[in-house]
Amino acid sequence: MFRIEQDTQGLLITNPRGYSMFTRLFFGGRRRHDARVAAASGACTGHRALDIASGTGTVAAALADRVGPTGEVVGIDAAREMVDYANAHAGRRPNCRFQQAAAQSLPFEDASFDVVTCTFAMHHIPDTDRAAALAEMFRILKPGGRLLLADMAPTGLHGHLTKLLSRHMDPAEIDIRRYREPLQATGFGQITYAVVPPSTGTLTAVR
Ligand SMILES: C[S@@+](CC[C@H](N)C(=O)[O-])C[C@H]1O[C@@H](n2cnc3c(N)ncnc32)[C@H](O)[C@@H]1O
Repeated sequence: MFRIEQDTQGLLITNPRGYSMFTRLFFGGRRRHDARVAAASGACTGHRALDIASGTGTVAAALADRVGPTGEVVGIDAAREMVDYANAHAGRRPNCRFQQAAAQSLPFEDASFDVVTCTFAMHHIPDTDRAAALAEMFRILKPGGRLLLADMAPTGLHGHLTKLLSRHMDPAEIDIRRYREPLQATGFGQITYAVVPPSTGTLTAVR
């Protein structure tokens, strides 16, 4: 239903319409789920938030609704097709925009965001680049800024569906708890695991 292309930067999704249709079916609509993820990130009125590997922009849109007109949300994705689609949809909000960039090399100043999110995407970044991506998240967050990483909880409904749909994928790949120690090693504290309904595993951490 959607196309994944292997690139040096990661596994890129290059047909946003197919991905959008797939995730809407997979989650039974994304709006409520993404609003819950945005709330779990700690994003508040006036915050500047970055959504990494933003895809079609639905999580960024939910963040934009939380930070309001005095805040700002930037989404980045390595796939040009995703960035164009997100700018044409979620990017119609005046406080939300998208640009092409890779998680492992963020084009932003040090300590320039209050919140960073990265949902269903860590397993798309090459294994060898993930420590660099976490270091970039740490670098661009303000001291006290919050990070949220999310992926399907392996024992939840969507984790089981993912295993059925992609038999080649090691279930440990999507278990977001595997980043607890790498986050600690990067310098993050207050690392907490929680499940956002219906079955999204989240790790939150503070710079
Ligand atoms: C499964 S999608 C998740 C999209 C979105 N975060 C969501 O919640 O629906 C993974 C996304 O990661 C992007 N991607 C893959 N490697 C990347 C990288 N190194 N940097 C930025 N984006 C990347 C893909 O193009 C794709 O849009």
